[in-house]
Amino acid sequence: MGKVIAIANQKGGVGKTTTTVNLAASLAVAERKTLILDFDPQGNASSALGVDRAALMQEKNMYHALIGEVPLSAVIRPTEIDNLSIVAANGDLTGAEIELVSAFARENRLRSALLEIKAKFDYILIDCPPSLGLLTVNALTAADSFLVPLQCEFFALEGLSQLIHTVSLVRQSLNPNLFHEGIVLTMFDGRNNLAHEVVKEVQTYFPDKVFETVVPRNVRLSECSSFGKPVLLYDIDSKGCLAYLNLAKELLSRNQNVSDRMPARPQNQPEMRTFV
Ligand SMILES: Nc1ncnc2c1ncn2[C@@H]1O[C@H](COP(=O)(O)OP(=O)(O)O)[C@@H](O)[C@H]1O
Ligand SMILES: [Mg+2]
Repeated sequence: MGKVIAIANQKGGVGKTTTTVNLAASLAVAERKTLILDFDPQGNASSALGVDRAALMQEKNMYHALIGEVPLSAVIRPTEIDNLSIVAANGDLTGAEIELVSAFARENRLRSALLEIKAKFDYILIDCPPSLGLLTVNALTAADSFLVPLQCEFFALEGLSQLIHTVSLVRQSLNPNLFHEGIVLTMFDGRNNLAHEVVKEVQTYFPDKVFETVVPRNVRLSECSSFGKPVLLYDIDSKGCLAYLNLAKELLSRNQNVSDRMPARPQNQPEMRTFV
């Protein structure tokens, strides 16, 4: 059975989509069959993987699978990377949030839709929207674990208590086994003293949960999305690419999978550690 991981944080702009796309691409090149579910009506993960927005308007997508109009398997599309597929989304998904309000078992829609395909993948990553509404609750209900990207900035921890509260409600009534996969610090700028403070603070609050790999602020990570490519296909030697390859390695070893199938490149890859 594939492991379903919700990439969640109700703050926007903290690196959820960047982490979903590039962690998933890194897992795929490590030969793990990986699926991204774009679960944000903004459709950023879909654009970041080169899905044509105009074409998507005419095609069935995440929305149609969520409301049960088509099976999820019917809307999975391949990407430029072997082993990496995506279910794309666009503004249609906003409608689901409203339409499902009165629906039976509305929080379980994604979980039910995933049953059919879960065994076909090693990892399924859900790119959550920047809110704690019904879409995120569906993602947390369907997931085996949740992973939180946290931007290295002053108010990083603010709002995290709301997410943790939502998680505890989901655990109580919908998904008792939802595991906290960890916190990924993103957009780290080593020249900024405050960023170092934030790293220390988060490590103090969540001693066993913070990934050792810290994703640096790296312009390649923002550029690649506008080319519709994960950073692996845009600049494999960039620090951003290296960080996400290491994050994948760390995730795999935390999940006790053999990580000896990581690609040979990039060369001179340092040990898994903080990037400054
Ligand atoms: N490590 C990084 N270095 C530089 N820019 C980044 C990095 N991570 C994300 N970004 C950029 O920051 C913006 C917000 O990131 P994104 O992943 O879309 O956040 P979210 O999905 O949480 O809203 C995007 O423009 C993205 O390209
Ligand atoms: Mg996003």
